[in-house]
Amino acid sequence: MLDHEQILIRRGPRSGLPVILAVHSTVLGPAAGGLRLWRYPDWRDGLSDALRLSAAMTLKFAAAGLAIGGGKTVVALPHDAQPDSIARHDVLYDVAEAIDSLGGKYAVGPDVGTTPDDMAVIGEVTTHVFCKPQALGGSGDSSPHTARGTLAALRAVTRHLYGDPSLKGRRMALIGLGHVGEHLARLLAAEGADLTVTDIDPAKRSIADELGAAWQSPEDILTTDADILIPAALGGVLTPQVVPNLRCRAITGPANNQLDTAEVGDLLHQRGITWIPDYIASAGGVINAGTTELHGFTPDQALTRVNAIESTVTDLLTTATTLGITPAQAAHDLAHRHLRTAKAQHTPG
Ligand code: PHE
Repeated sequence: MLDHEQILIRRGPRSGLPVILAVHSTVLGPAAGGLRLWRYPDWRDGLSDALRLSAAMTLKFAAAGLAIGGGKTVVALPHDAQPDSIARHDVLYDVAEAIDSLGGKYAVGPDVGTTPDDMAVIGEVTTHVFCKPQALGGSGDSSPHTARGTLAALRAVTRHLYGDPSLKGRRMALIGLGHVGEHLARLLAAEGADLTVTDIDPAKRSIADELGAAWQSPEDILTTDADILIPAALGGVLTPQVVPNLRCRAITGPANNQLDTAEVGDLLHQRGITWIPDYIASAGGVINAGTTELHGFTPDQALTRVNAIESTVTDLLTTATTLGITPAQAAHDLAHRHLRTAKAQHTPG
């Protein structure tokens, strides 16, 4: 069954690259979601990613109580492309025109492989863009806010596990030091967490050294002994094969689409590992961008809303315990309650 409201696929007239724009749902309002500029074995893999990521954006906005729908854009680079070698300006103009053709049904933001400066270029063509640099009237980089929201989620999980939200001395294993991961590493170091980190780029090891964090290879960190494992890189890291080898008590991180397949959620539950869905733990960026750009929140008001992810996660954990369901199920129910209410309001009669 086709879940999505609209999918636009076109070969970018300037770049020649596949531009894939997936609008999953506008039930809550016009959709938003980032532009992912990444390598794929085949462009159809980029399409699958766009479909999954856009559906997760619907849940992310719904669970956060924002009147925004879910969408995503993927530009699928060839598997051997060097991101620096692509004609970036051409790609961004191709994307911007595709977005503009939807007439406001969807607005883009930054994601893996793109930045606020890219949003500025897109903003030359269309107004339907979040997170332009602040100098141009946008809310700027969303990644510090995403990291802040993940920290709030980690505090709630830590309280759930140990009765105390303090992260001091807690063993945190962080996978990925990209835009969000690096911010999060710094926040965790400042909280006094006992930090182990990794990245596929060995040059990022200097960040570990600076923060006094241990470094492990991307392969080994997954099964390292830790209180909480924090996926902050690309999706799909939690596979049925890896679950039996995990040595953490909980998994909570900002990477989108962490579960390789939906059944992994149940496997984690069976192993007694608490998993908070990525669309809850990663909502800080869209909460900041959405509330400041659409609703005129001040940065302080937005921060309060981002920090409220802590109570959202606490509520999900309480509900899950009370009802004997997983936090993932509780999060799904929360998002769908908002979606159902909105749908009922739209239905005539
Ligand atoms: N990368 C952001 C996310 O997945 C995308 C985004 C940021 C979309 C800000 C809109 C506004 O949450």
